[in-house]
Amino acid sequence: MPRRSMPAEWTTLAHLFDEINESFIDYDGQVGFLLRCAGRFLPRSRTALDLGCGTGRHARLLAEQGIRTVGIDLSHRLLRQGPKAAPAGPLLVCGDLAALPLRGRFDLVYALNFVLSFLQTNEALLNALREVRRVLSPRGVFVMDYHVFFPPEADVKLREGWSEECVVRGQRLVVSHDPTVDWTTQLCTDEMTYRFLEGRRIVRELRTVEVRRISLPQDLACLLQATGFQVVAHCRRFDLDEEPAELGVVVARRARPARAG
Ligand SMILES: C[S@@+](CC[C@H](N)C(=O)[O-])C[C@H]1O[C@@H](n2cnc3c(N)ncnc32)[C@H](O)[C@@H]1O
Repeated sequence: MPRRSMPAEWTTLAHLFDEINESFIDYDGQVGFLLRCAGRFLPRSRTALDLGCGTGRHARLLAEQGIRTVGIDLSHRLLRQGPKAAPAGPLLVCGDLAALPLRGRFDLVYALNFVLSFLQTNEALLNALREVRRVLSPRGVFVMDYHVFFPPEADVKLREGWSEECVVRGQRLVVSHDPTVDWTTQLCTDEMTYRFLEGRRIVRELRTVEVRRISLPQDLACLLQATGFQVVAHCRRFDLDEEPAELGVVVARRARPARAG
């Protein structure tokens, strides 16, 4: 039975989500990548859907470019941290990406920063991809990233764990990862510890568990194909600068119906 994962950043630490992730994620760079992907196939994208939008960081940046953007997320707490409804801002909705409460079509649909890695089974991922296809406009573009964990760099990380740190509200925050991978299910159970420090003193400590799926590029391409997508680009990073090797990015479109005969 898959273990349901509700990481601290979506719940107890939701109010710090933006501050923590600003240190680790280049949102401007990722939105630039989205716009370049969409621009290759559509002269102008008018609408976008952000799956697992969190506080709506990407959605806000796209809305600033004049793209009508809807964000959807399961976490009320994260959505509450997002921008208040405004005519030019994104619309953020609470809901499950596996059963989208939406009828419209979108030119650009994306799920970034491992949103779909939280879907642990093929069945869950297939459901989500079918939903994406349902709401993607005929010439639309779908972009998602996922965990690869290619060796050899990832071997060491997975064996020894790793930590990263940033400053949040004037305090040092060290996030330590202690992962265990079950390669039969391709699930990585990451026992994470958040330590807030003043000098060397730990002033708050919080433990949380994230269970994420590790995908193999061929398997993912197969699931996309089975749900009516054609992969148009598959890369290991959002740009060509040095980035960790565990990240994969797929750009897909609706597959053309096969010609008879
Ligand atoms: C790692 S966060 C990324 C948030 C956002 N995309 C970003 O980059 O800032 C993953 C997000 O996916 C959301 N999420 C996970 N499973 C979901 C589901 N089934 N439906 C909707 N949102 C989901 C979580 O609530 C969380 O906000």
